[in-house]
Amino acid sequence: MKSTVVRSPWLALALVLSLCLSLSFASWDAEDVGRGSRRWQEGGDDEGRSGSGSGRPYHFGEESFREWAKSRHGHFKVLERFDHELLRGSIGDYRVACLDAAPRAFLQPSHYDADEIAFVREGEGVLVLLRNGKRESFCVREGDVFVIPAGSIVYSANTHRSKWFRVVMLLNPVSTPGSFQEFSPIGFGGEQPQSFFSVFSDEVIQAAFNTRQREDVDRVFQRKSRGEGPISEGSEEQIRELSRSCSRGGRGGGGGSGSEKEDIQPRSLTGEKPRYSNKHGRFHQITGDQCHHLRKLDMDVTLVNITRGSMTALRYATRSTRIYIVVEGRDGYFEMACPHVSSFGRSERREHEQEREREHGHGRRSEEREREHGQGRRSEERKDEQGRQEEEQGRGQEQEKSRGYRQVRAQIKVGSVIVLPAGHPATFVAGNEGNLALLSFGVGANNDEEVFVTGGNSVLKQLDDAAKALAFPQQARELADRVIRAQPESVFVAGPQQQRRVADM
Ligand SMILES: *[C@@H]1O[C@H](CO)[C@@H](O)[C@H](O)[C@H]1NC(C)=O
Repeated sequence: MKSTVVRSPWLALALVLSLCLSLSFASWDAEDVGRGSRRWQEGGDDEGRSGSGSGRPYHFGEESFREWAKSRHGHFKVLERFDHELLRGSIGDYRVACLDAAPRAFLQPSHYDADEIAFVREGEGVLVLLRNGKRESFCVREGDVFVIPAGSIVYSANTHRSKWFRVVMLLNPVSTPGSFQEFSPIGFGGEQPQSFFSVFSDEVIQAAFNTRQREDVDRVFQRKSRGEGPISEGSEEQIRELSRSCSRGGRGGGGGSGSEKEDIQPRSLTGEKPRYSNKHGRFHQITGDQCHHLRKLDMDVTLVNITRGSMTALRYATRSTRIYIVVEGRDGYFEMACPHVSSFGRSERREHEQEREREHGHGRRSEEREREHGQGRRSEERKDEQGRQEEEQGRGQEQEKSRGYRQVRAQIKVGSVIVLPAGHPATFVAGNEGNLALLSFGVGANNDEEVFVTGGNSVLKQLDDAAKALAFPQQARELADRVIRAQPESVFVAGPQQQRRVADM
């Protein structure tokens, strides 16, 4: 890795988790999150909410997941929406989810109105897709990445006798941004999902199935009580039968060409040669170049595996927003420089005052509309002066040149989700207990580049002499060269503790 700019390196996303909260899915969607971020804006770090320290709105702990489906044999959990105004514009349409399936668990056929990109973080399974008039069956195992195109009917099973099958995924809803639904032909009793057939009228069902007996259709597709719901258990024999004809993509990300089927073949992210590795860590990546489907979705998937006690060099991505999920490690942390957050308290207070005035004046509606319009990427492009003027005009319009940065930092462990927006310098540090591995989904990754600002491939090494003479004080010029060149390692470097040991010698 000689070049100063490494093409979209690592990351990948991942989710993970293990605890489950019993709140209902619907309740957290908008309201809770909105209130949560307001609290954060007012009170600075939101210690109480995340439990594992600050880092909002860029860090989410396990408690930010809600159960979507649950049984004795496994559960499917979904992360709250990326609803904060600093995230909504780039990743607000996406959802992170995790599936944990017990040995021999079977997931009933259904389809989602979302594309899914998934990473197998543990175990093995079989995945069957019904689409394009065909049935395609894939074996997947630890380290694989696979894609489930929106609308494919899919069913799957954990094929291992004793290990859990754990998958983390990113969903990109195709009809309602930031919100997806599951559609099940087969329904279950009680609180469990209904069959979508059950809502059609008798005459329609009878005509559609060419039967006189609505009851027959109901008996097949809408169970009254038996069955455990969407996640049940198969016998060893049944699971074996299900996986008998499953195929595997080649190890390694090979050929992007070929049929649609090849395109959704699972690929091993960790099995192929890493894009970069040294004794401090490794990163693996699958981009749109290797997988046509990822290119279409403007995404990539990476895995950063940081050796115990090491860290990543300070870096930022040029265009992608990266959603990381910690898939291994108990005692790491991340730090990021964030310009927005540092000016937040101020403008938020101001908005508050305006809001109070407004409460006696015109209604909430227009305020919300303004909020919708004023945020997201667009506002980042605004120039200083213009921004200041607009700030006077109302809520959500504030955009001042940031005169400082705030440190965003949080302890992270398996199950944590971290968002690194484009342009924001950041690092991950592995603790002393073991490796820290993060899966990341890069959103907006097609023309992305990873830029390092420290280390052997630091972009700062490219400053020319004339620029250095102008940029650094005369007395500090030589020092500047030494400082910029002192770190010989690239991408992964010794962490704070290791470094201290070296310096002491
Ligand atoms: C990270 O690297 C360690 C050491 O090589 C390995 O044991 C572990 O499985 C890797 N983790 C992931 C998630 O690939």
